[in-house]
Amino acid sequence: MRDVAVIGIGCTNFGEVWESSFRDLFVTAGALALEDAGLSGETIDAMYVGNMSAGRFIEQEHIGALIADYAGLTTTHIPSTRVEAACASGGLAFRQAVIAVASGMEDIVVAAGVEKMTDVEPGASTDALTGAADREWEGFIGATFPGLYAMIATDYMNRYPLTREDLALVPVKNHKNGANNPIAQFRQEITVDTVLNSTLVADPLRLFDCSPITDGAAAVIVAPLERAREFTDTPIKILATAQASDTIALHDRRDISTLDATIAAGERAFRMARVEHKDIDLVEVHDCFSIAEICAIEDLGFCRKGEAGWFTREGETQIGGKIPVNTSGGLKSCGHPVGATGIKQVCEVVQQLRGEAGKRQVNGAKIGMTHNVGGTGATVAVHILGV
Ligand code: COA
Repeated sequence: MRDVAVIGIGCTNFGEVWESSFRDLFVTAGALALEDAGLSGETIDAMYVGNMSAGRFIEQEHIGALIADYAGLTTTHIPSTRVEAACASGGLAFRQAVIAVASGMEDIVVAAGVEKMTDVEPGASTDALTGAADREWEGFIGATFPGLYAMIATDYMNRYPLTREDLALVPVKNHKNGANNPIAQFRQEITVDTVLNSTLVADPLRLFDCSPITDGAAAVIVAPLERAREFTDTPIKILATAQASDTIALHDRRDISTLDATIAAGERAFRMARVEHKDIDLVEVHDCFSIAEICAIEDLGFCRKGEAGWFTREGETQIGGKIPVNTSGGLKSCGHPVGATGIKQVCEVVQQLRGEAGKRQVNGAKIGMTHNVGGTGATVAVHILGV
């Protein structure tokens, strides 16, 4: 297997982007990534595109072909493949691109993600997202994603020392980071009171515990490490790519507030990268709801089970803390265009490792990790990147 590096990144603004269509979003992110790598479209050998539900959100399927077409790549007839794993679609698209280059099958590959979620009514977006859970045993009886994560939060808070105020510190920290991210959907800082006084969505989760409904796209370009310096002075090496699965329904899990797929993918990634927790300078985790970040930092092993509330309260997940978590603002503040999130996480880590993250820069960052979850933990992708 060959070593693989990221040579270019590009992200659109995240938010309610009325002025751009689904295809505009993708083309913008792809063009930014090509420009970043100093490449033209004809040099690309293949594309993998993460997208969860264009069929439900914009009534369009056949996304791989659509994107090759609107990216102007039909003359070279490159293979373009849609990858779907709910909110982990982006993470899996990145993994497919890395595997394609590592295997020697392809050289210059685009991994992208795109979702346009705000063109449908809120009820329709909630219902489309429920397709990431078990439709027959969860969705049909009324469970929504906020509802499922509320069950995780309730179970966790009954068993471990996490107060409602501790939980609020997760979005407070993520909004603080997101305020310094030019692409973020919500760029305002908030307080614990903002969270506690916001609308109740699914007890105990409130509006500010939830990631929003978002339009956006992100793209990265990967190449063999041995060729990377042809395109960039700062190639970022992919040290590990890992993926794991679990039951689709939450009630079939061994323990509903532990994501075993996160544990498995995390352990595989650490093994493959041959690094330890103390070597990781920052991690982008899948905080689709505040409780998800609490579970993620424990299940990835950055603190012990039951300690994430204390760990967060002590400031260990802030920039300057033991392990900065979600420097991009995470899904909560940066936004969560579901198919694009896993790629945006990679873009954030690459910016940090290049030292280009501005006011949210982690000083001297050399190794970063991404953690992208599909559903309530049925699919997890973990990547480790380093300079
Ligand atoms: N955080 C902060 N503010 C939010 C927000 C969020 N997550 N979602 C919406 N808002 C704001 C809007 O900007 C708007 O503000 P304004 O009145 O100042 O313009 C206001 O809240 C109402 O927005 P609206 O779009 O009507 O909210 P909603 O009630 O329809 O949706 C949620 C709110 C939380 C239900 C929705 O964002 C949601 O479903 N989130 C979860 C998404 C999800 O499950 N993703 C997959 C996870 S695996």
